[in-house]
Amino acid sequence: MTRVLSCIQPTGEVHLGNYLGALRNWVSGQHKADVFHGIVDLHALTVTEEPGVIGRNTLQLAAVLFAVGLDPDVATVFVQSHVPEHSQLGWIMECTVSFGELSRMTQFKDKSAKREAEFVSAGLFTYPALQAADILLYDANEVPVGDDQRQHIEITRDIAMRFNHRFGETFVIPKSVTPPSGARIMDLLNPTSKMSKSGDEDTGVIYLLDDPAKIEKKFKRAVTDSETEVVFDRERKPGVSNLLEILAAATGTTPQKAAETYTRYGDLKAASAQAVIAMLEPIQARYFELLNDQGELMRLLHKGNGRAKEVASKTLSRAQKAIGFLSAE
Ligand code: AMP
Ligand code: TRP
Repeated sequence: MTRVLSCIQPTGEVHLGNYLGALRNWVSGQHKADVFHGIVDLHALTVTEEPGVIGRNTLQLAAVLFAVGLDPDVATVFVQSHVPEHSQLGWIMECTVSFGELSRMTQFKDKSAKREAEFVSAGLFTYPALQAADILLYDANEVPVGDDQRQHIEITRDIAMRFNHRFGETFVIPKSVTPPSGARIMDLLNPTSKMSKSGDEDTGVIYLLDDPAKIEKKFKRAVTDSETEVVFDRERKPGVSNLLEILAAATGTTPQKAAETYTRYGDLKAASAQAVIAMLEPIQARYFELLNDQGELMRLLHKGNGRAKEVASKTLSRAQKAIGFLSAE
């Protein structure tokens, strides 16, 4: 069976783009492959300094992952720092990647530039080595990620091949896969840029936990254009097309079909808001149920952590043996 792995950082709130572009595909994918999904809190440490924040975000993100439909009996949902093999293989990966390779990573260039006067940790630089460990520990065949992560999967492949060449066949060479639906959700106020938790204007971003009134308000304010025709055309009508894309994704149709039903922008906005509210309602209910029962939430995570550790510890010792470290036994 194909092994699939993808991870998400516990930084900031989960938004509609995360859900429609990634999490929803994780849920539909869980019955087609052997899936592993990590909440990568060690990665979040590269940009988080405030005590307590990462742990709180990790718990909330775990509740989101189960609330959207990841089934703890089917999918392995784990916390990165609870499986210490990530840190252990991470160091080995750092010694298998070159300074030059890491220097070419666009995410590092972007993130470090954005941090201007802030602290830029060495961890932000070596981040892809830890990500390679995440992937290689699970013998993942496929890694579903958005465009922005493709370079990190490429470097993981390079690292795995280099390691296998130096020390003998140890790691499965993974490949990145583009999620099937390809939903790319744009900011409601700025429909030519991606909906993103780092966006400045919060009001163009729908968060998974927004209440109905907030969602309605945000859709009402959504930027469209000065025309009046409801047609799907991303180039010419980015705002209207984004609404159609969201409406279609929330109701299981295509943006083109959705366009045939509406003639006025106001109606399209209202329908999109209602569709999103209806889609999120059961997710929110389950989320709050889980957060109110932390014992249950921790039980689900322990289950995932245990299964993750079983696989990860075998791969780590395979790598250690291949290198030929003196055995502690
Ligand atoms: P991020 O929030 O950037 O860490 O992304 C987490 C996951 O959500 C990644 O797999 C992204 O590809 C996906 N994602 C983030 N923003 C969007 C968006 N606006 N539309 C579709 N997918 C997105
Ligand atoms: N770097 C990814 C992101 O920013 C998160 C991530 C960490 C990841 N490890 C991973 C994604 C392993 C896929 C596989 O979204």
